[in-house]
Amino acid sequence: MVTLGLETSCDETSVALVEGGESILASLISSQVELHQAYGGVVPELASRRHLTNLLPVLAETLRRASLGLAQVDTVAVTHAPGLVGALLVGVAAAKALAYALNKPLVAVHHIEAHIYANLLRPSPPAFPWVCLVASGGHSELILVRGHGDYARLGRTRDDAAGEAFDKVARAFGLSYPGGPALERLAAQGDPSALVLPVARLEEGSFDFSFSGLKTATLTRRGQYGDAHLAASFQLAVVTALVDKTVAAAKACRVGTVALAGGVAANDTLRSQLREVCRQEGMTVLIPPKELCTDNGAMVAAAGHHKRLAGKTADLHLNAVANLPLTGWAS
Ligand code: KG4
Ligand code: ZN
Repeated sequence: MVTLGLETSCDETSVALVEGGESILASLISSQVELHQAYGGVVPELASRRHLTNLLPVLAETLRRASLGLAQVDTVAVTHAPGLVGALLVGVAAAKALAYALNKPLVAVHHIEAHIYANLLRPSPPAFPWVCLVASGGHSELILVRGHGDYARLGRTRDDAAGEAFDKVARAFGLSYPGGPALERLAAQGDPSALVLPVARLEEGSFDFSFSGLKTATLTRRGQYGDAHLAASFQLAVVTALVDKTVAAAKACRVGTVALAGGVAANDTLRSQLREVCRQEGMTVLIPPKELCTDNGAMVAAAGHHKRLAGKTADLHLNAVANLPLTGWAS
């Protein structure tokens, strides 16, 4: 079964073809970074317009690389929420048109769910349950994944998402958009032990995050320490909070498998620290390749494949939704 996955929720126009929910036949990501760089962040209206001009050429090229025709697509999956509503609409309208014209099932995928499913784009992944950390520009959530489409939220950010904190600190340091990778490069030139930055302490037993205090603490020490040292200490503080909470949540739920997802999962310090702590704790760790951590159509196709198998298809009334909590397929 071949699933076509469309992702247009933010500033990446991405299309992928995935076989059996796990094997990528072709995956293309057309990044809009250069378009938004001049503004220091994503301009929603420009993002929608660029998706509109890019989506069909990206689709054509994806089919060409997979040596497939549209007739060989069995399912059309699309991110419909949450995200920039105009940007989402472009993907949703295209997916509805394709599903209608091809007479194939349409599947609506939640963006967080898509990130989680990036972990299934491999042969024989570990069985559920997993505790999955989703850390992106818009979300920092700890999700207990009990099975396909069966989620329980264990924790979330109370203020800035992890990626948002990276982006804001990077912007204050005069680094280019997107801030996460730029701050990671700067941090590589600094010493994380130059100063210890405070991580918010929340109530005992809470698996929530808070990064806005850390962001302010980092910025108020500018001038006292070099930006590279500050970047390294900030990165270590964010990563330590993410890793500690993820492992603590897995232990509390008696779950032996931890998964990582979202754009911040492309961060090498986070990847290596989570691997190391899970090794010490005897836990299994799942970390997708970097190109599957940031937004992409392949993860949408993976989720869409399993959702279709569960019979959870959408109709042509499907709409884009800017804000929507992640719920399971049963609801
Ligand atoms: O998942 P994603 O591509 O889009 C959203 O759903 O938000 O995540 C983008 C976020 C941005 O905040 C970006 O700065 C951050 O992920 N990010 C990183 C790295 N690569 C991307 N943050 C830290 N280190 C990185 N290497
Ligand atoms: Zn994302």
